[in-house]
Amino acid sequence: MENFKNEIVSVLQPLVQLAEKDVQQQLTVPPELKMGDYSFPCFVLSKSWKRSPQEISAFLAEKLGEAIEESFWISDVKSVGPYLNFFCSREKLAQETLQGAFYEKEKYGHLQEGQGKNVVIDFSAPNIAKPFGIGHLRSTVIGSSLYRIYEAMGYNCVGINHLGDWGTQFGKLMLAYKLWGSEDSLREDPISYLYQLYVKFHKAAEEDPSLEEEGRKWFKKLEDGEEEALQLWSHFRDLSLREFNRIYDRLDITFDAEQGESFYNEMLAGTIDSLMEQNLVQESEGALIVDLEAFGLPPCLLRKKDGATLYATRDLCAAIYRYEKYRFHRLIYVVGAAQSLHFQQLFKVLECMGFPWAERCVHVPFGLIKFKEGKMSTRMGNLIFLEDVIDKAVELARQIIEEKNPGLKDKNRVAEMIGIGAVIFGDLSNDRIKDIDFDWDKVLDFSGETSPYIQYAHARICSILRKENVTVIPEINTSLLETGEEQALILALARFSETIKKAAETYKPSILARYLIELTRDFNNFYHQCPVLTAEGELRQARILLIDGVRQVLVNGLYLLGIEAPSEM
Ligand code: ARG
Repeated sequence: MENFKNEIVSVLQPLVQLAEKDVQQQLTVPPELKMGDYSFPCFVLSKSWKRSPQEISAFLAEKLGEAIEESFWISDVKSVGPYLNFFCSREKLAQETLQGAFYEKEKYGHLQEGQGKNVVIDFSAPNIAKPFGIGHLRSTVIGSSLYRIYEAMGYNCVGINHLGDWGTQFGKLMLAYKLWGSEDSLREDPISYLYQLYVKFHKAAEEDPSLEEEGRKWFKKLEDGEEEALQLWSHFRDLSLREFNRIYDRLDITFDAEQGESFYNEMLAGTIDSLMEQNLVQESEGALIVDLEAFGLPPCLLRKKDGATLYATRDLCAAIYRYEKYRFHRLIYVVGAAQSLHFQQLFKVLECMGFPWAERCVHVPFGLIKFKEGKMSTRMGNLIFLEDVIDKAVELARQIIEEKNPGLKDKNRVAEMIGIGAVIFGDLSNDRIKDIDFDWDKVLDFSGETSPYIQYAHARICSILRKENVTVIPEINTSLLETGEEQALILALARFSETIKKAAETYKPSILARYLIELTRDFNNFYHQCPVLTAEGELRQARILLIDGVRQVLVNGLYLLGIEAPSEM
């Protein structure tokens, strides 16, 4: 489809006298198949041409008549009211698409736009010594999917886990551990235990406020680099990381750098100094701030009265450090919508510091996720652990397998793929900015809009292709694929690239999730209407090639969401 689009641009551009990029941007997909594959709305020209869009469209259609006779991709162009509708040659489309999928395999659909450019993605970022909660699930799966999507666009991606591993809470935790802790309980279930200590501390501090002051002293010890404090902190950090890594392994997520907040400790003073040199810092009740009133934003707090630095200060250092190191084309923060103000302030301060790359920083926000009550017992009050959610999903998937296909090989492995896929898809299929009501019955429904639904279609195709007398042959007469179902399927496969692009540009994996659901639906329609194995001769071969293309795009698409596709289930 990209080639077709480029050809439209090259025939249209000399006539309309707009920049190529503008012509490209104007092209839209008409609401119905019979109206063509791309449409150029002539309204944009109306003003400068001093003619109605209808007249312009008719004029252009006539002018283009000859040009397209020699064109490779464009089979027809029609003027419909103010629109100029282009039709793609069905023959060429089928052939290029299906051979493309066959030869390019896992690279099918990928683009080259990002070649030579770095995109830094800050995602996941849980806080150590605290449970990896469900809130961090969203950042983790959205971030990891954007990472894969940007890679498919040709960018070099750098995934950074900006761990929350610094702050006054660690002073309190150390004190709590010194007062009540035991190494044995800590080793047994580190995060739960640390969390319990944390809760206990807060209860105790309500009765005895002097504990707060004591906790702050411990944090001071840590900031001053005192031996005992440092040791405890790094012990807590290591134990936490070990647990987080177990989750990342299961979700098949890796980072290129694990630079938590503590990584920037040495750079804080320098950053505050350069802000001061630029006269951007003010003192306010003993604290240091950057006044952002002129921009309608509350002040950005750099340093508290007691000298402690803050989340925002560390984020400033991190952004500057990242630019120095990666010269990024874009820096993407995948963090909940609750922190929108923080990022507005951060980007504004960077802009005030005169960094031209400040405008290349983006906050990609998302809403909350809520679990239907009753379905999950939790280890601790109403706090939901991500790992429990994954375990539960895998367990439910295992039960479904036992019911539907008890003889399946590698049951555990497949249950893991289905269960984890369902959790990821249950998140990514929603527009990220909306809050999600996570419903177990819905996410695991094999016939609903779920990943098991997509995975199932994939496994079904694999089972057809495994049959003895089936071989996929790419050099085949694909113009035999004439029915509406076949045409719809080919067109869907051909639109894979532009779907990736749209998902990247809007930072919305949900666009890709939606696409995969529709592709699966198109496949099921086709499979209902058009026999594959019992079709005759060349048509049979052409249909085999078609379903192999669907298989490839399903695998590639699921991969971009971070989901595996079992070949049997
Ligand atoms: N640890 C933070 C939290 O849990 C998220 C950090 C996001 N990344 C960043 N650079 N601020 O809220």
